[in-house]
Formats: sequence, structure tokens, C-alpha cells
Amino acid sequence: MRHLIDPTDLSSSELQEIIDLALDIIADPAQYADACRGKKLATLFYEPSTRTRLSFTSAMMELGGNVIGFSNAANSSVSKGETVADTTKVISCFADIIAMRHPIEGAPLISALNASIPVINAGDGSHAHPTQTLTDLLTIRRELGRCDNLTIGFCGDLRFGRTVHSLIKALSRFENVKVVLIAPDELKLPAYMKEEVCDRYGVPYEEVASMEEAMPLLDIFYMTRVQKERFLDQEDYDRVKDCFILTADKLKNAKPEMRILHPLPRVNEIAIDVDADPRAAYFRQVENGKFVRMALILKLLEWSKIPSMERRLLPDGTIPNAYHCSNPKCISNHEPVETLFRPDRANPGKYRCVYCESKPRS
Ligand code: NCD
Repeated sequence: MRHLIDPTDLSSSELQEIIDLALDIIADPAQYADACRGKKLATLFYEPSTRTRLSFTSAMMELGGNVIGFSNAANSSVSKGETVADTTKVISCFADIIAMRHPIEGAPLISALNASIPVINAGDGSHAHPTQTLTDLLTIRRELGRCDNLTIGFCGDLRFGRTVHSLIKALSRFENVKVVLIAPDELKLPAYMKEEVCDRYGVPYEEVASMEEAMPLLDIFYMTRVQKERFLDQEDYDRVKDCFILTADKLKNAKPEMRILHPLPRVNEIAIDVDADPRAAYFRQVENGKFVRMALILKLLEWSKIPSMERRLLPDGTIPNAYHCSNPKCISNHEPVETLFRPDRANPGKYRCVYCESKPRS
């Protein structure tokens, strides 16, 4: 079985294969109109979504398949207390592939560990969002003609923004990518991302204080929303919510070929006056999300039939039930699951939670 829980579940060549297939679908969609005839996608969305759920739905429809599921967990047996593991076993009897979004980190991994069909992580808490990453990579490829030799600036909520975490992980698969981080102190990139991904996999990064400083260096400016729903305290949110706002004026020193990406929804972090700039690619990015999800569904269904394409879900050195996770939003603190820890790749002798990558509780 093949799942997509984290962007690193895909090798460089598999990432490339998905992007190439998406480009082929764009060039000749009619060729794929019946590719999933008779198949069902289950969209299990425990958290709000517009683009991700509807692009999965459109993707499956354009492949000739059907879609079942829920967009509000309150309408499902979840409200009666059903676990992610049990819901997954039930859905595996009805559907051919699952796309799951969940506010609790690690929920899609629990689903994959209990599924007899492929599971796609459509966003888990602040942790990961690998299908947005595929969308971002396809957009970068279509807009600039390459995904390597890039300087990409990430701005806004780099702490809770799961799209940022996943895209940086995937960029570690490409040559000569540099990252510039622009965020207030409260919203800086988590330590595991800096130590385990950037340092270990050779993605050089630089932290700068202002957009203006970074702007002339960038090939991609990746703006993000401050993730209000992840704050425990409204005052903390109010303090940072307007920290970085991109306006047309701030683009004066940007390269003419630079592109502006945003996973959307936007609140106020990109002023409306930027939309008319040809470098604003965020609405084109949305459409790419549909094509790349078509490609992903096809590839996961295809790879799941080939025994040699099987991949282990748990990293090397995973140990069960040795620690408890320090993250209150980790699935291991919400449902009766085995705790799983893997070696910390940056700190020998230390461990990180397999579900959410946090440290053990001390
Ligand atoms: C993002 C998400 O859900 O993480 N949206 C999306 O999937 N396109 C970004 C966000 O909500 O800010």
C-alpha cells in the first residue's frame, strides 16, 4: 500500500513523476476522463476547508470517479466518540482511497496504519500538508520552468503554517535551493525544521527582519496567513496578526520574474492591490491543486498494486511506548494509540514523536 502522510514519503523521482503526470493531464485532460471510473474517494474532513476538499472532489470527478465522505465531523460517528482508527477501518470497506484533514497532529498517520486503502494527509494541525506542497511545486515549475536553483522567501506564520513545513521538506529534494525566513519571534520556524531538515539536508536558510530586505533576492515569495485557530490565547494572536502585509509598493525591488505564492485563504496579509500584478500567482496556484491531486490519486492507486513500490510507514529506529509526547495537539494525547518515537536526526541519543515530531514530555 502507498500513502502520502509526509512529503518525505515521496522520493525525488516520485515527486517528479507526479508533477510530470500533472503536466500531462493539463496538456490532454480528455485522456484521463475515465481513469478512475468505478472508483471512490472518501474525503474525511474534520477541520474547515474550501480549496483542498473541493479540489480533491473536482480531481476525482474529472477522473470519472465518485466521492463520498463528510466535511463536518459533527455529522459523522466521530461525534459519538469513534476513533480515527475505527472510522478508517469502516471507510476502507466503502472507498478506494481516503483524503483526511484533521486538527490533531498525526491523525492521518493513525489512519494509514489502520487502512487497507491508500490514505492522503490533507493537512494535520500545524504539522504537515503534503498535497499543498505538490500544488506549490507544480506552480513553481509552471511559472518558472524549474524547481531547483531557487531562492524562496517564506513570510508570516512559519510556526503554525503546515504548508511551510511541508514545502521546505520537499525542497530538500531539489538542488541549490536557498530559503529566507521572514517572521516575528513568536512565529519562527520550529527547531526540528531548522535542525533536522534545513541543517541536515543542506537547505541553507537565513532569517531576516523585513520583507524589503529579502525582496531583491527572491525567485519565489511565499506568503502565509497567521493561523488564528492554532493560538490558545486571543491576545497572542492580536499581537502578531498584522505583522507582515505585502502591498504593491513593497514589490518595487522584486525581480520582474519573481512569483508570489500563497496557499490561501488570505485574510489581510496580501493587499488586494497586489492581485493585478502579473507576478501574483496565487489564483493560478489554486487550479494547479486540482491537476496535481488528479495525478496523486492516479499514482497512489497505481503504486499500491505494485509490491515493490510498498514503503514502510514508520521510520527506522522507531520505538513503541517508551515516552509520552509533549505536544497537547498530538493524536497520542487524544486517542488510545501506541506512542511511537524515532531517533532525533539532529541530536544523537534523543527522540521525536513519529506522529507530530515534537519532543518527549519531560
Ligand atoms: C492552508 C491550510 O489549510 O493549511 N490552506 C490550504 O489548504 N490551501 C493554509 C491556511 O489555512 O492558511
